[in-house]
Amino acid sequence: MTDIIDGDAVAADIRADLQDSIDALADEGVRPGLATVLMSDDPASETYVSMKQRDCEEVGIEGIHVELDPDAPADELFDTVEDLNDDPEVHGILVQMPLVEQVDTRRVLRSVDPEKDVDGFHPENVGRLVAGNPRFKPCTPHGIQKLLESAGVETEGAEAVVVGRSMIVGKPMANLLIQKGPLGNATTTVCHSRTEDLAAHTREADIVIAAAGAPEFIDGSMLKEGATVIDVGVNRVDADTDKGYELVGDVDFESAEGVAGAITPVPGGVGPMTRAMLLYNTVKAAGEQEGIAVDLP
Ligand code: GUN
Repeated sequence: MTDIIDGDAVAADIRADLQDSIDALADEGVRPGLATVLMSDDPASETYVSMKQRDCEEVGIEGIHVELDPDAPADELFDTVEDLNDDPEVHGILVQMPLVEQVDTRRVLRSVDPEKDVDGFHPENVGRLVAGNPRFKPCTPHGIQKLLESAGVETEGAEAVVVGRSMIVGKPMANLLIQKGPLGNATTTVCHSRTEDLAAHTREADIVIAAAGAPEFIDGSMLKEGATVIDVGVNRVDADTDKGYELVGDVDFESAEGVAGAITPVPGGVGPMTRAMLLYNTVKAAGEQEGIAVDLP
């Protein structure tokens, strides 16, 4: 029997707890504010950002959305971030990735005030995470920790394989898994596109985190019986649907189900958790910037 880990349900619980914190901030006259910035005409990015804004509205976070012409000079983005850094009603800033070509992504990450960096991508925040003293845990790996916790998966002493080495998921995920303490203490291997024999690694893993952004490239034959499989992939593949595509994960769900002990579906697994943890980081940022202690789930 394979358990399906219900990300929608876990995210709903976290959002309900966050609602109490947001209400407590409101009692002190504070409404958390999250700014999203989009400089891209990638349809998936547009969808993600609009979902994040809708989430804000639903829980009582002030959502500010800035959309920049993808052809505008890079300075427009830097000026926007500077204004948001200076705006006391904005507690969190998220610049949606990937960015257009003319923009130096590393410079953007450095330009966001680290105290408002709810993505956790600023070098100061990356350093703090690696050092074991995170300010903001990046939303997707933090959400995955919460999913593992909710499913009762023990990371301590487990063999974990992270497939993918991105700044957004793979690297912070591996860092969280190796930290001393709860939801850490895993023996962690990071595999990537140049790994020679991926299956040799994944077959040994108690926990597989698939985050390479390639459709269904991990199948049941590559898994150990009973492994926990977390599928971060959201890949659009051509399909005979109204939209002309369907979303599939990095894991071939059909063959993995039955081998895995527990698995996240796509959609409805990691995605809702990433969004919930963005709200979490925004509430945390608001509490810290306003000097108000807030309970966090
Ligand atoms: N693009 C895909 N995922 C993310 C994310 O978590 N944060 C930002 N800023 N961009 C992304």
